[in-house]
Amino acid sequence: MKIQSFSLILFLFILLAFQSSCTSNRNEEEIYIGFSQCISSDQWRKDMNHSMMVQTSLYPNINLQISEANRSIEKQISQIEYFIEEDVDVLLVSPLETKKIVPVIERAYEKGIPVILIDRKIDSDKYTAFVGADNIAVGRMAASYIASSTADNISVLEIKGTDNSSPTIERSFGFNQIADEVDSIDSVFTIENYTDDQFSRILDTLDTSKTGYVFSFNDILARSAWQVAENKGLADDLKFVGVDGLVGPDGGINMVLDGRLQATVLYPTGGTEAIKLARRVYAGEQVPKNNSLNITLIDKLNADIMKNQYEKINEQQLELEKQLQAIEQQEEKYYVQNNLLKIAMALLAVILSLAIYSIYSIRIIRRKNKELQLTNEKVVNQRNKIKSIAEEIKRVNKAKINFFTGVSHEFKTPLTLIMSSLESIYMDLKGQKSRHQSDLDVISRNSKRLLRLINNLLDFRRIEDEKFNLKVSKTNLFEFSEKVSMDFKKEAKKRSISFEISSNDKDLNVYIDRNLMDKVYFNLLSNAFKFTPDNGSIKIHLDHQQNKNIVNIHFKDSGIGIPEEEKGQLFKPFFKAANNNKKSSGIGLNITKQFIELHNASIEVHSHQGTEFVISLPTTKNQFSSDQIISTVDNEQPIYFEDDIELEENNDLIPASEDEDQDQYSILIIEDNYDLSRFLNNKLGKKYRTHLSDGSDALEKAFEHIPDIIICDINLPDKDGFEICETLKNDLRTSHIPTIILTALGDRESYLKGLESGADLYLTKPFSFTILLQSLKSLLYNREKLRYYYTNNLFKLEKENKFSNSEQEFISRLNTLIKDNLDHSDFTVERLAEELNVSRVQLYRKVKALLGMNISDYINNYKLENAKMYLEDTDLSVSEIAYKCGFSTPNYFSTSFKNKYGASPASYRKSYNNSN
Ligand code: FRU
Repeated sequence: MKIQSFSLILFLFILLAFQSSCTSNRNEEEIYIGFSQCISSDQWRKDMNHSMMVQTSLYPNINLQISEANRSIEKQISQIEYFIEEDVDVLLVSPLETKKIVPVIERAYEKGIPVILIDRKIDSDKYTAFVGADNIAVGRMAASYIASSTADNISVLEIKGTDNSSPTIERSFGFNQIADEVDSIDSVFTIENYTDDQFSRILDTLDTSKTGYVFSFNDILARSAWQVAENKGLADDLKFVGVDGLVGPDGGINMVLDGRLQATVLYPTGGTEAIKLARRVYAGEQVPKNNSLNITLIDKLNADIMKNQYEKINEQQLELEKQLQAIEQQEEKYYVQNNLLKIAMALLAVILSLAIYSIYSIRIIRRKNKELQLTNEKVVNQRNKIKSIAEEIKRVNKAKINFFTGVSHEFKTPLTLIMSSLESIYMDLKGQKSRHQSDLDVISRNSKRLLRLINNLLDFRRIEDEKFNLKVSKTNLFEFSEKVSMDFKKEAKKRSISFEISSNDKDLNVYIDRNLMDKVYFNLLSNAFKFTPDNGSIKIHLDHQQNKNIVNIHFKDSGIGIPEEEKGQLFKPFFKAANNNKKSSGIGLNITKQFIELHNASIEVHSHQGTEFVISLPTTKNQFSSDQIISTVDNEQPIYFEDDIELEENNDLIPASEDEDQDQYSILIIEDNYDLSRFLNNKLGKKYRTHLSDGSDALEKAFEHIPDIIICDINLPDKDGFEICETLKNDLRTSHIPTIILTALGDRESYLKGLESGADLYLTKPFSFTILLQSLKSLLYNREKLRYYYTNNLFKLEKENKFSNSEQEFISRLNTLIKDNLDHSDFTVERLAEELNVSRVQLYRKVKALLGMNISDYINNYKLENAKMYLEDTDLSVSEIAYKCGFSTPNYFSTSFKNKYGASPASYRKSYNNSN
């Protein structure tokens, strides 16, 4: 803004400087002079105009305008009117005649315009001044000259012009005055309105001996008359006298010199004097009214001098004009240079101003910069502060969220207890009605609700952490929709809500993560049921748009709808619509949207007579990566117990007698929650020998008891469940024990971590007790099958590699040690345990667990199997074989062999040899 206004001032300054420089030399006031010239053609008038212009050129402030009337009085009047109109400063007039011109001249004069008459007078004295020679004196001078000649009785022919101007009248008057006075002039014959013809006729009748002189009004008429006389051969008889005395071929002076004229009266034009007088009048000077000019008689005696003088004057005049021109040029130059100098000075001033302004600006900019720097530093400090506050908030937030997630997980354990206890009660009731039935139903419903809420919260957290890994599988969408909707059928019936599912393509298969889509359906249907009044309607419609490769899943209810202006907010976390006065966590729809978007699908909401959610799901699978597509559905923990009961009924793997074994299986329960630990102990104690650990002594207890199976929690005070499991699986003593990890951590990472640690099963809380029981039975049964396999393939174990590394390794080492010490009868179980780096009891339990027999029997069996081979394949004696296989005596060998194979070694060899 500042710079703009400065530029404007600068521009104006330069403009003014330039303008003043251009006008400074022309600021003298201009004088406007109008001149009306009565006649234009003759030389004398031309000389008058020229002398005016020369004089004017000396004064640059004079503006002279010459108008020529060309012998027309009307023209002259209108020219003068024009000058009056133009309001000239001075009016110059050389009037054609004396009368007609008077009114206009008086008008000018009365208007206050100074009027200067030149050469001719008028019949009025209303003019400012007159410049011109005295024409009476001219006439007198001519007459005196003629009278001074030596001749007597002179007759004179006086030739007048055609006009009636004052010079015509006065010259004649003056001439006749003298002619009357002197004796030598006898007579004067006047010719008015001269013409050549008239003069010629007069000459014809003239007595030339008497008439000696012709006095002509001016040199022009004198020349004409001379020519007429010359033509008649009378030129030498007459002496011609003229007026004007101009230089030039037909000028008076030249004619005197060449003899055509006797003499001429020099009659000055008065042009120069008129301009001089005009300046003075304009300047306000008092000037004489009559300004008479000198006249001179020119004859043979002074004509040369006059001519020379005249020519000299002319030369000087030309020189003067040249000099004036040069001065004008110099002046122009001067003006230009002066202007340039002024512009240069103006520019210099501008540059100086700019320099000063720049210095000033630089100082201001520096100061501003400093201020900015300070502000910047402040901003940076503030930003750093905000950053650290934000980081702190982030840290605190993270801590809070971790805490909140932790607590949410912790909710699962008590919830397990509640739901499992409830389940036990339902099972005990076995369908009978209890008087606490409605309370139990309330507990059940609310436990499930609580569980869903917790799961929603944990899902929300997982979405935030972007920890969801989609697992989609090919699913019949209609069947899936029907199945998921089952749980709502009862509610619909109870509240007389018409609940329908329809599809235009019931065979449509899509790729969905069933666990996530199950939650989507559940959230949308829960909402629909929450806001639909009794006797309302809820519809699910699947609209397969084959050409677009999408299916639109419509969830339409007849509920209260959603305010139009809130539709955009609906999927934002923790949003609750204004017309929603129901209990709501505000994250259900957010999770729903996120789950849908994980499928590259979209969801929209419409609200018109109820609410309609529309999911647009692609029916193709190419939007998923190959590792997202699975062929079988994940066995994540279902949350509805109805499914669990079905599982229990499908229990045909476990032998019925198993439970009645007097030799009960032992279980180590590692759980730090006292209630859950007690609950499991109570429940499992009926079928199993239980050992309890709160986690602090988990490993010690495991090594001490070498249990048949271990149930281990993850969140434990000392080591976590993964570590415990890993240690046990890597230890020879416990590696064979099936381990179930029981945890509230339901995410995939934890699940994988559990499996990596060697756990055989991973159950998430709240777990179904039935499922736990089923899992225990399955694992123990599998262990039995394995044991059966071991014992029946005792000697093939080293060749095959079907078992896990640790068990394979253990059995290999065991067999190698026994084999290496086969012939040592004193090789005891203690020695073997020592060699294997375990205690005798641990060895006993490990072998019992793995092979289902005690270690002594195993060694014995091994020895007897070897002995049997020797009997079959060698000729060694029974005694030799007994010692070779580490039996202290042949008798003991025989007894043992007979016990195992039902025949003595000798009879076995005999029958073997016979059969082969
Ligand atoms: C020119 C002229 C002159 C004469 C003067 C008188 O027009 O005729 O020859 O002296 O005018 O006004």
